[in-house]
Amino acid sequence: MLLLGSLRARYRAALKASSPMQHLPLFADLQHRAVLVVGGGVVAERRVALLLEAGAAITVIAPELTERLGELAADGRFTHQARAFAADSIEPYWLVIAATDDRAVNAAVAAAAGAAKRFCNVVDDKELCTFIMPAIVDRAPVTIAIGSSGLSPVLARWIKGVIETLLPARLGALAELAGRWRQRVREQVTDPTERRHFWERVVTGVVAEHAFAGRDSDADQALELALSSWGSDDIARRGEAYLVGAGPGGIDLITIRGRQLLATADVVLYDRLASAELLQYARRDAELICVGKTPRRPSISQKQLNRLLVSLVQSGKRVCRLKGGDPFIFGRGGEELEALAEAGLKFQVVPGVSAAEGCAAYAGIPLTLRGVSQAVLLTTGHTRDDGTPIIGKHQPGQTLALYMGVAQYAELSSALIANGYSPEAPVAVVESGTTDRQRVVRTVLGSLAAAQVALEIQPPALLIVGETTRYAERFGWFAPSKIEHFSDESATERARVSYRQNSNKAAP
Ligand SMILES: C[S@@+](CC[C@H](N)C(=O)[O-])C[C@H]1O[C@@H](n2cnc3c(N)ncnc32)[C@H](O)[C@@H]1O
Repeated sequence: MLLLGSLRARYRAALKASSPMQHLPLFADLQHRAVLVVGGGVVAERRVALLLEAGAAITVIAPELTERLGELAADGRFTHQARAFAADSIEPYWLVIAATDDRAVNAAVAAAAGAAKRFCNVVDDKELCTFIMPAIVDRAPVTIAIGSSGLSPVLARWIKGVIETLLPARLGALAELAGRWRQRVREQVTDPTERRHFWERVVTGVVAEHAFAGRDSDADQALELALSSWGSDDIARRGEAYLVGAGPGGIDLITIRGRQLLATADVVLYDRLASAELLQYARRDAELICVGKTPRRPSISQKQLNRLLVSLVQSGKRVCRLKGGDPFIFGRGGEELEALAEAGLKFQVVPGVSAAEGCAAYAGIPLTLRGVSQAVLLTTGHTRDDGTPIIGKHQPGQTLALYMGVAQYAELSSALIANGYSPEAPVAVVESGTTDRQRVVRTVLGSLAAAQVALEIQPPALLIVGETTRYAERFGWFAPSKIEHFSDESATERARVSYRQNSNKAAP
């Protein structure tokens, strides 16, 4: 918990580094409120139709109207002032829309609105706008607004199309039902966290299924049942841990399931390696706790972390344990599950793209390749407690992917050579793989340690040893990635000598 403050700051800084929001989306209540539209053409017609749906009290100033607008005016749906906009007062209006085809008139409207501090939308003129109109997905009472800060309305409409296909047509029915039951649920489930859990169960369970299928009375009954049985199970049973693989760094490499669970969690325990940007997918009120271990810095021990995880779940929280890469590949996920299982708590595990897969793909290095490499071994570059690396004998046709151990590349390459790997074996180090900082260093095993020092290779880095690393130039596709070649002939020669001595010793 001690780390929380500084790590929250790190998260905020990461978010700040991305481009600032240009428009704050707001949902305006325009029922019976005065809105001015200047212009009577086709564009104004579309704006008027939308404002009528929102229940606004519209005044249109325009010498002429389209046929449709004329009909609406004749029906008394809005007030028409048949004249050009002059130095009109904007004071009576909450919002102003300039929709003429004359830029000078539009600019005059925008200036008058600015002087009166009224928000003004000028159709197709981003510079003059103080608010912009989003593309809308309408599942009333649910409304989704999509904006591109005025840069690409076509893109916003395309996104609207995508969202339209994802959302059930009767989503609004579920929202109506929630509105009807809101007060009763609030009275019966008084704890806010509990209540949120209750509603989450409603919107993802059988109640929602009935509502989406048009069985409104079944939905009501199911909700009644859920409410009457809520609270009869004990709190710990509602808590759950989600061990979620965040992927190796690129923010879009988390799975859909992982993101869903991240978005429902009450608490997120995240690693140093899990991209800080991913935390924006957590709930706004979720508690974010960094439990990552930083080499040579005080940090939470694995035992403390297991205890924290268990106690949070026992208190009824849904805890997303967001781990870099895959939770079960050098992620200590097994130890955390052991602690949860021992305490009899619920958990789920969501796999992630591991560093070996991510780095290989983004560096253009196939881990296996027909006729070149038939096996891949994921192992660690760390040494045993006595300092000796954990490395097996050389296997022809095998690619090695070594996690961790950047500071021990000298010991590691010596151990590999002692185990039959050639000093000329091609290797690649992928530093900060899948991120915009990705760098690929290509060298040979005998020059690896020298490369680490000369090129200042920093963690996180993944070492790949094997023939397929030669494909990095040919298959490298990830544009931000840099590729550097390194060779230190004297270091490689020393490695050759030691390799020959080893081979002679091994010979009968
Ligand atoms: C404690 S292990 C965690 C591995 C993780 N569970 C996985 O499946 O990728 C940390 C090591 O993974 C590797 N690693 C993780 N992210 C990486 C990245 N973006 N680029 C290169 N290596 C990475 C490095 O070798 C790092 O030292």
